[in-house]
Amino acid sequence: MVKENVVNPFFIGRYAGARYFCDRVKETQTLVKHIRNGRNVALISPRRLGKSGLIYHTFEQAEIKGHYTPIYVDIYSTGNLSEFAHSLSISIVSALQSEPTWFERVSAFLKSLRVGFKLDPTSGEPAFDLSLGQIEYPEKTIRELFEYMETLEKPCVLAIDEFQQIREYPEHNTEAYIRTLVQQCSRTTFIFCGSKRHIMTDMFFSPSKPFFQSVISQPLHPIPMDTYIEFAGKLFAQRGKLLDHITAEIVYRMFDGCTWYVQVMMNELFALTPEGVICSPEFVDIAWDNVIMAQEDRYKSILHNLAPKQRQLLVAIAKDRKVDGITSADFVKKHFLTSASSVQAALKPLLKSDIVTCEEGVYRIYDYFFADYLAKR
Ligand SMILES: Nc1ncnc2c1ncn2[C@@H]1O[C@H](COP(=O)(O)OP(=O)(O)OP(=O)(O)O)[C@@H](O)[C@H]1O
Ligand SMILES: [Mg+2]
Repeated sequence: MVKENVVNPFFIGRYAGARYFCDRVKETQTLVKHIRNGRNVALISPRRLGKSGLIYHTFEQAEIKGHYTPIYVDIYSTGNLSEFAHSLSISIVSALQSEPTWFERVSAFLKSLRVGFKLDPTSGEPAFDLSLGQIEYPEKTIRELFEYMETLEKPCVLAIDEFQQIREYPEHNTEAYIRTLVQQCSRTTFIFCGSKRHIMTDMFFSPSKPFFQSVISQPLHPIPMDTYIEFAGKLFAQRGKLLDHITAEIVYRMFDGCTWYVQVMMNELFALTPEGVICSPEFVDIAWDNVIMAQEDRYKSILHNLAPKQRQLLVAIAKDRKVDGITSADFVKKHFLTSASSVQAALKPLLKSDIVTCEEGVYRIYDYFFADYLAKR
């Protein structure tokens, strides 16, 4: 999946193959089992824990790879049904491209969509030519896409990442419409993935909602500490470096084991450690400062775009790290935040833009590095 002269084995942001992927053995087996049994799954966890990685990893398993057509679509940045249709078409094309007879398949696919493809003038390669403007009737296009998936020789597994996004679409009854299409599929299996627990839970587990009782739920928890430490230690050792157990434990605990943050720190620690040297706990502060320095401009820009009351609330949450009772008199008074209602008003956009997250009534800044940057300001 990646070239072998990998310098830093702690990958961030993309799935780099089983060798660089830690654990998730049981979760992968469970997902494979559900797919093989034709069960649709809701995969729900807080952000950055490894949902997308788990999907990619599952798709790489022999039981899936050779027998299904896995399709992955991330709809986080889509804002309406046309954009959904557009993203889905691109994902279907890229899934077909990995097959040996992809050209014929893609041609057939585009024909079925009644849109064209063109030849790239410089490379002469066929290029996909479905622009957003061409999707005049998105509901019809989406139906055609679903129907097309049903016709493929190997049954499809369609993973829709950030599925809760469809609730933001301006069209009415999107959920009911997609649910109907899903129900009409007899060969395609679906993985609905999402990080906004309250929305995902409402979509799939509220009796009044279209998707009620249509999926099996698969939660995702942090990788166990010992498992991650063993994995990280091995990757250091394979490249002639040593990872002190205490260092790894400090890093894991700093982020409650949340995969992305731990991987970012490990990537930096690995870069800082010369060959033949032990990565001891003294490296942690340096790595931390380096990570924050690299993000500082982004943090400044986020702060710049916030209203003063939102900024004030953000710093207050950062200082307390985790806040239970965000509108309580204690919290308001401690941080000089005018009133409970002004906290509520400031909180709304922070939650919507994912800067603050809430799990079971406990609020925190979702980016641990940002939280620390704010707390120290
Ligand atoms: N099992 C794993 N082993 C090593 N790295 C992993 C593992 N799972 C995920 N990662 C890494 O952690 C980061 C976050 O993973 P991923 O993007 O899958 O999380 P996510 O839950 O989909 O996040 P988001 O909610 O932001 O979409 C990525 O950089 C990924 O490479
Ligand atoms: Mg993801």
